[in-house]
Amino acid sequence: MTDVGIDAIEIRTGKLKLDLPNTFAPAKGEDPEKYTKGLGLNASSFPDTYEDIVTMGANAAHRLMEREGLGPEDIGRIDVATESSFDNSKPVSTYIAGCLEAVFDGEFSHANKGERKFACLAGTQSIDDAYNWIKAGRHRGRSALVIATDTALYARNDPGEATQGGGAVAMLISEEPDLVALSTEQGYGSADETDFLKPNQQFPSVDGKRSVQVYLSRMREALEDFESVAGRTHTEDFTYIPFHTPFPGMVRKAALFGYRHMIRDTQKEDELAGEIGRQPREEAFDDDGTFEEALSEYMDGLKRTDAYQEWYARVVDPTLSISREVGNWYTGSVHLARASALKTAAEEGRDLAGERLLVGSYGSGAQAEIHAETVQEGWTEKIEAMTVDEGIEKRYDLSYDEYERVHDVHNHDVETDADVEEFTAPEAEFVFDGWGRMGERKYRFVE
Ligand code: CAA
Repeated sequence: MTDVGIDAIEIRTGKLKLDLPNTFAPAKGEDPEKYTKGLGLNASSFPDTYEDIVTMGANAAHRLMEREGLGPEDIGRIDVATESSFDNSKPVSTYIAGCLEAVFDGEFSHANKGERKFACLAGTQSIDDAYNWIKAGRHRGRSALVIATDTALYARNDPGEATQGGGAVAMLISEEPDLVALSTEQGYGSADETDFLKPNQQFPSVDGKRSVQVYLSRMREALEDFESVAGRTHTEDFTYIPFHTPFPGMVRKAALFGYRHMIRDTQKEDELAGEIGRQPREEAFDDDGTFEEALSEYMDGLKRTDAYQEWYARVVDPTLSISREVGNWYTGSVHLARASALKTAAEEGRDLAGERLLVGSYGSGAQAEIHAETVQEGWTEKIEAMTVDEGIEKRYDLSYDEYERVHDVHNHDVETDADVEEFTAPEAEFVFDGWGRMGERKYRFVE
């Protein structure tokens, strides 16, 4: 059976940076360690005033196609995953295709384009759609372009403000991929929830604390559903476990619950229970009605064990290195996590071919998807070709006043001057170029 999966990936960060401990924390009167240690974030990326979800997505896709020597005739499908769309009818993929046609010889006239929405899960769902399209044999030898692009902004003074971010991840989905092959094993946890939503509004309505619980519940259900197909999971089955990362502190919680699930009813659990001085099994707590407190005591103990800390440092922590510097990119976030882990392994000179990843995606509203992937022979070259480090390094470091101005520019509800100051100079990239006659957004390529 032909493998299908991610052949190549390119990451485009917004060109501005908000330093959380040194700029944001003093302005908010907060302890910097709330951000660095509590949430696990050093900085957020923001789009410059001439950037948006289209330019970031088009710039990522342009670089990816150039690098891979592809033209429009090689692409049979363009799906954009976003929760920052500005048009309820015309999909963002048409804007991005229009940009790309201005720089490539050829048109995407026979490509199927669309826009996928299920909060942060939509990037993974777009990959699933592309996988199914190729497996069904409808692709005529062509690849699919999946672009996850978001400007993840919250209202000022919302608790989510510290977790903002902006950037795009472009992925090429192909037969016989070089990076990772997707397995057929997949599990879902899904429920009608109101943890985070944008009912015809730009900034989200968020019940932050509840959203954390909903994430954990849906992820647990997805893992159980995955196991019903793939069999029981164990801590050593997967080299890395990339999770959706709204902020690394969220992943620390998800990883602990995942670990506890994987060691349940095993000798390892008994050994750790001995070390912690607590029986972990849920039925042991139910009788006296102290289940919640006892479980949380057990989880706190589990977190401190050497076995858990070694596993977390090896399997989960490497997935967080990019997110720590750029914040939440909504639909792109879990794909940053996979890229972070593979980048770390490449830098360490490891050979991962044939090893497995367990990918945990989540979208508010709410649904989690867990699936397995196998790393392919050509992975190192494809990971080393990414330009993400350069983009992160070159960002303009905003003062707090500048941050507020940029936030207003990207806030559709605030009127800003027509000529808003740019903080960086465009360099061989697509830029926003004003509005057209029917209210459409216009773009051009700056040499
Ligand atoms: N030193 C070290 N740690 C500190 C600290 C300090 N000085 N001050 C606080 N902390 C810790 C806290 O103990 C807490 O850690 P724990 O959760 O492990 O206890 C952490 O830092 C955050 O502190 P608070 O809980 O006080 O922070 P908050 O209430 O201001 O905001 C939040 C937290 C509610 C999650 C907020 O960031 C938020 O609303 N974020 C947006 C929603 C979100 O991302 N939800 C995640 C699940 S939904 C999802 O994943 C979809 C999506 O992409 C949005």
